[in-house]
Amino acid sequence: MESPLRLASLPIVPSLPLTSASAILIEFLWEIRTFANSKKISRAFISNRVFSPFFLHERPFPNTRKCLACSPILSRRIFCYNPSVDVVGLHPSMGAAPEVNMSVSPRTGNGKITVPDILQRKFPVGEFENQTQRITCLTAYDYPAARLLDEAGVDILLVGDSLGMVVLGYDNTLPVTLDEMLHHVRAVRRGASRALIVADMPFGTFHVSPEETVRHALRLVKDGAEAVKLEGGEKRMEAIARLVESEIPVMAHIGLTPQSVLELGGFRVQGKSVESAERLMRDARAVEAAGAFSVVLESVPRELAARITQELRIPTIGIGAGPDCDGQVLVFHDLVGLSVNGTPKFARQYANLGEQISRAAREYCDDVHNGRFPSDAESFHAQQWPAEPRKTQIH
Ligand code: KIV
Repeated sequence: MESPLRLASLPIVPSLPLTSASAILIEFLWEIRTFANSKKISRAFISNRVFSPFFLHERPFPNTRKCLACSPILSRRIFCYNPSVDVVGLHPSMGAAPEVNMSVSPRTGNGKITVPDILQRKFPVGEFENQTQRITCLTAYDYPAARLLDEAGVDILLVGDSLGMVVLGYDNTLPVTLDEMLHHVRAVRRGASRALIVADMPFGTFHVSPEETVRHALRLVKDGAEAVKLEGGEKRMEAIARLVESEIPVMAHIGLTPQSVLELGGFRVQGKSVESAERLMRDARAVEAAGAFSVVLESVPRELAARITQELRIPTIGIGAGPDCDGQVLVFHDLVGLSVNGTPKFARQYANLGEQISRAAREYCDDVHNGRFPSDAESFHAQQWPAEPRKTQIH
């Protein structure tokens, strides 16, 4: 007989409405969890090993009637998401084989950071149960930076489409192409051995159809990304679900989504009004329900970020979202003082490489002009060379 876990992870036929049988099965799983909790069977085991793959964090169907009516089904999973009753969907974890769920070791053992490691940072298990460690993420766009950041112990290297602005000099991220992203993903891949590499899906690569979205994401994965990030909440549920179904882990991104600059009319803090905060809460629940393994919260009030972090089972990674998120991300150029067009209020500059580079370049020009560079020590010497240059004989 199939175990409930195995049964629950079976895909459901596309477009099949959520049947009473499926609902009963989900309710049955919920009961097991409740029973296990009452019997004090390792909470961490039940919550993280068995249930986290399904991201069930509330009784599945508090309003069963509404839920049974819920359609259409967005992907080939049981997919029941109804923001009005706070229902969270049911879907397997990111490419996690059953063995991963059964394993008691939270790490692969060689220090390489994986998607399950990131998930477990929020709910550590086993010997790490009482140690939650915040997730560190920085953008990286090239080989040397990737190597330095990887060796420094950064957990996630994000090949962000911010490269369009900080590396390529565009006014915003909209012009960035998939080929540009691939070029930088390959460079970062060569420089990193420990960190998880996440690549942004640039504007236009996940907007047309789920098939095209998967095709584009696969190219990023083939070139070295271990997960993709895409911007948007509720309206990106289908895209996220289809990627997850294709074994491509997804980091979501809500709040200020720079690719929406035309719609938003600029880069502004999001979620300040009650209405927009509620919309963001819905977005957060939606991306979790669709199967994202983490979510970036950009430029949102600290209080809202804290609330979302508390409610979700997947880690939140903040940028301009206050200190209560499960992790933080910064743009590398802001961190090291290389952002030539200014640094946002939320960023902290840990070094001023921009100033050092300018000073170095000025000194170099000065030395060349004055004949101080290169010196004799910086020159090559031949072993045997006529002491005097040979005189050309003119007949
Ligand atoms: O593109 C990027 O660098 C990002 C981060 C700011 C999160 O999306």
